[in-house]
Parts: sequence; C-alpha cells; structure tokens
Amino acid sequence: MKFLMILLLSSLCFSQNIFKIEPYVIFSKNNISYLAFELNAPSLVRVKLSSKVRQSIINLKNRFEEKKFYKLKVGKLKCDRIYDFEVKVEDSKYHKMEVISHPCDEAQSLKFLFITDTQSIKSNPRLGYSRHRNIAKAVMDKLEDQDVNFAVHAGDVVSKGGNSEHWLKFFDLARMYLEKLPMIAALGNHDYHGELEEGNPQNFNKYLRAKPDSLLGNVYLSFPQVDLLVHNTNYEHLSEKEIQEQFKWIERKCLKAKLVSKKVILVSHHPAFSSTFGHITKDTKYIRKKLLPIIEKSGNIPLVLSGHVHTYERSEKDGIVYLNGGSSGGIMNPSRYKNKYSKFLVRFKPTYSLIEVNDKFINIETFDKKNELVEEHKINF
Ligand SMILES: [Fe+2]
Repeated sequence: MKFLMILLLSSLCFSQNIFKIEPYVIFSKNNISYLAFELNAPSLVRVKLSSKVRQSIINLKNRFEEKKFYKLKVGKLKCDRIYDFEVKVEDSKYHKMEVISHPCDEAQSLKFLFITDTQSIKSNPRLGYSRHRNIAKAVMDKLEDQDVNFAVHAGDVVSKGGNSEHWLKFFDLARMYLEKLPMIAALGNHDYHGELEEGNPQNFNKYLRAKPDSLLGNVYLSFPQVDLLVHNTNYEHLSEKEIQEQFKWIERKCLKAKLVSKKVILVSHHPAFSSTFGHITKDTKYIRKKLLPIIEKSGNIPLVLSGHVHTYERSEKDGIVYLNGGSSGGIMNPSRYKNKYSKFLVRFKPTYSLIEVNDKFINIETFDKKNELVEEHKINF
C-alpha cells in the first residue's frame, strides 16, 4: 500500500514537473482538432494517436526540434469514436486524454458544456479563481457519470490576455474539465487586454486557435445534430469591412445549414439582451441593431449563447432564446436594467450549463457550484 502511494505521488509529481500546461484539445475550423501542451523545459516529444498516419507525420515533424509549446494537428474527430491521446516526453510516457467524440446519428443527443468568463477579478484575484475552481470541480463531478462531447466557452477566458501567468492559472483550473473535453472559445474583450499590439490577441491565438483559423476570430463547427458558429463581437477591434465580412459569413453558413434542414447555434462574447447595464453598452446596441436582423431573418437559429455581463439570464424574442452564461470567475454584476425579453434571471451566482441537442430539441440544464439545478429549459423544434 505504502509502495503504491509513493508510486502514485511520484507519477503526479512527474507530470507536474514536465508540463507547465497539461495536454488539452482545441477545435479549429471545420472541426479539425489540435492537441496542445506546454513543457517546463524544451524537450523532444512523441505522440501516440489512433490515426497512425497523423501520428507518423507529427512524430516525423517533431523529431529534431526541442520545443516548450506544442500545438499538434490531430485531425477531425470522427463520430462515434473514443480517442486516446498519449504523449511521450523524452523517455517517459504520459497518458492524458480520453475524448468521446460526437454521435453520428442526428436523432442521438450531442451534449456540450457551456461556460464563460473564467477570468478573475482585478481587485480580488483569489476570489475569482476560487469561483472558477468550484465550477471546474462541479463540472468534473458531472463528467463522472455523463457523456459530454466538448466545451464551449463564451470568452473572457482570462482577465488580461497579454499576461501569460493568467493563462497558466486558467489552464491549471480548467484541466479538471479539459482533460476530457475538447474546447472552442469565443474571443472576449479581456482576452485582448494587455497585449503588446492592441487588437492582436496573441496569447488567445497561441493557446486557443490554430494557424488555419480566421484572424477575425470566427470558427465554424459542424455536427450531424447542429452547426456552431463562434464569432467575434469585439467590434472595436475590427474594421467595418471585417464586421461586414463576418456578418456575411454568418448569413452564408446559416443558409447552407438551412438547405439540409439543420439548426445553427451562435456563440459570441457580448450578448444582445441583459438586465445588467451591459444592455446599454456600445457593443450590445450594435448587436441589436445590426446582428439581430440577421439572426431573426435566418429562420434556423433557435439559440444564441454569450457571456460578458456576468449574470445568468435567459431572454427570448420571437421564439429565439438568448442565453447569457453566469460568470465562472469574473465579478458579479448587479441587474438594474429592465430587460423586457428576460424570462429567467439569477443574481450573484456562478453557474455552468450542459446543453443537449438532437434533431427534435435543445435542452439546457444550468447548475451552480454545488451541482444543484438552477434552471432547466427545453426548446422544441
Ligand atoms: Fe467581457
């Protein structure tokens, strides 16, 4: 028994010594996935993947160059599969992830974690991080008995995008769910903060985007059950031409989905509606004026996910649900504005949601840090 304990502890210390950021998987455009991790010291690595072709390409490419940060293209995660990712650093094997891909059949449910604003609080970082820690633990417990396919983050992953320490802290806590779930994140305003070049979220792109992804920050993912359009609502960092380009992209992708009778879920950082003062900022006004007509005209967007305002709220307008995730780290905002589309609101409570989608409905379950149900809402098609 004593020997077993020593063995377990030494393997834990070993992994902490090697990895600055433990392996995680991100979704890039068209569902192409990347396995990423950061080492404490430059080392050669080898990976073991279920795709032997991809494995050989990666291992051949990384045979001679010792690096600290790795972002390795592992390809499209095909439906109805379980993927194992094994990393070998120098001579030591490190087995990390087992990912359940999505179901092939559109009648079978796809399930994803919806989380947002894991950033901390400027005046009280410890409080912010403890909120994220509590939510991450609750998600980890939930993942013990539920098959969840991936995680969607609505942005403000960190408080100061340009500060590498903030990213390390995020991954240190998020590994509780990232060790099982590939993630796609929208760009939040804080993810731009403190970067060397204003408007260029270098760390966000380093950790959460891949080379082929659009520099505008938008990503398209497609599953048999639904399409996901992650787009960038940080309009102050985009030119008018880029904003229009993104709007046209949303229109095109929605039309493409409509032709095969598919629904689309939109994900962005800033919301359209809120009972907080976030409702009357420049970004949200712009969304209501310019993006809302596109959403309403599409006819196949039943759900819009966002964050930013740090208050869990479900609004509904013309049959479309607008869900603001409760902050998992940022400061809680008071709700003093009268949002006429509000249907459900929770004040001062960090939350996360599990969203189930199939060809008949979307079901949203929202939980607090104790995994007590805060709200359940079903959208029937
Ligand atoms: Fe924000």
